[in-house]
Amino acid sequence: MSQKQEMLKEREGFASRIGFIFAAAGSAIGLGNIWRFPWLVGAYGGAAFLAMYLIIVALVGITMFMGEVALGRYAQRSNVGAFKKVNKSFSWLGSIGLIAGFMILSFYSVVGGWVIYYCFRAVIGFNMTDPTLTEQLFVGFISNPLSPLFFHALFMALTIWICYNGVKDGIEKYSNIMMPALFVIILILAVRSLMLPNAIEGIKFYLVPDISKFSAEAALAALGQVFFSLSLGMGSILTYGSYLSKKENIPNVSLIVPLMDTTIAFIAGIVIFPAVFSYGFEPSSGAGLTFVTLPAVFSEMPLGQLFGAAFFFLLFLAALTSAISLLEPLIAYMIEEHGWSREKAALIIGGIIFIVGCFASLSMGPLSGFKIGGLVFFDQLDWVSNNLLLPIGGMLTALFISWIWGTKNVLNEVTNEGILDFGLGKFWANVMLKFIAPALVFIVFLTGLNIF
Ligand code: PHE
Repeated sequence: MSQKQEMLKEREGFASRIGFIFAAAGSAIGLGNIWRFPWLVGAYGGAAFLAMYLIIVALVGITMFMGEVALGRYAQRSNVGAFKKVNKSFSWLGSIGLIAGFMILSFYSVVGGWVIYYCFRAVIGFNMTDPTLTEQLFVGFISNPLSPLFFHALFMALTIWICYNGVKDGIEKYSNIMMPALFVIILILAVRSLMLPNAIEGIKFYLVPDISKFSAEAALAALGQVFFSLSLGMGSILTYGSYLSKKENIPNVSLIVPLMDTTIAFIAGIVIFPAVFSYGFEPSSGAGLTFVTLPAVFSEMPLGQLFGAAFFFLLFLAALTSAISLLEPLIAYMIEEHGWSREKAALIIGGIIFIVGCFASLSMGPLSGFKIGGLVFFDQLDWVSNNLLLPIGGMLTALFISWIWGTKNVLNEVTNEGILDFGLGKFWANVMLKFIAPALVFIVFLTGLNIF
């Protein structure tokens, strides 16, 4: 057996292409689509944000997604190891992603906890359509010193437990079943929302751009959200790529997963905004938008309790599969680069993230007076990881793949050594990955930070 074959054999892989697609979609689809996306659309003026988001997905998101999958599969290593394998002096680049993943998971898990709480709360029935009441429910819960910590602990414990048990058993099993169900429920909710009185106002806000709302700051937020939602720039997709079989069609899966992710985010907007305008919520109300709006929808919906509980339960699973993909690169790194056992890595790294997350959670309540650069700790983690680390790491990764690893090698990997026919391959590697995507990230990043 050649050395390469031996390595392939040793490495745990996905049993099937569908396994990869579901796992990668499981990573991508999560709170980013249903919690963070509507929040940003609302905060940055509706359709203008949506338009920028879609443009960036098309130009940067899909390009980068394919690059990461290719690098991971070629290297057969996770984040840091993959960079090292191509060029020893670039392992630091992988570390940016690891730090980003660490920071993201520490607040992600807090929001995962909120979802678990809402799942239980939905069973009782919300019975409130008044914005003041749903807001009281949300703020009351997240600012409570103890209960959000309990749910954050629960969410993190589950994430650790799944990673502790390894790739195949852990990841595939949990993501395979539930995604289609989530999709169906969101579609039902979208129909319900569209039938609310005054829904059209929400649709206008969401789909008809107001030119004055285009801004550099909004573009940077959209850019960060593309990375966040597609799980790019921090090694999640790269690591999953390393488990993808050498026979699979990379261009194909790299189109399907971003399309699924974007579709879900788009439909989430159709659920949220008609309801926001129908019930008189404030679209720019921030990180609570989804949590304050949906209870109103469930309250007046036939079988609202059932739908509410099912929805939050599925959202919880979607969040869990994303959280797994945030923890997995950190674990793989400790295993591959430091010789830790999977169990030890899962417990220790997961434990530290849990502790940092506690502070993020407390910063919504008891520690809200403590601000860094005008932001509470939770928002600071979110801002630094999404608006700084992911874009910078992502841009450098695109440059690394196309210039250091080289477009010939990338193309070789994505075409399975020339076997696959990938018509746009050269354009993708030589134009998109090499120039357009990194340049766009660079410009949006600098203008967004007001550096120009
Ligand atoms: N993409 C996930 C979501 O939308 C979050 C995530 C970000 C997961 C980065 C992995 C890496 O919920």
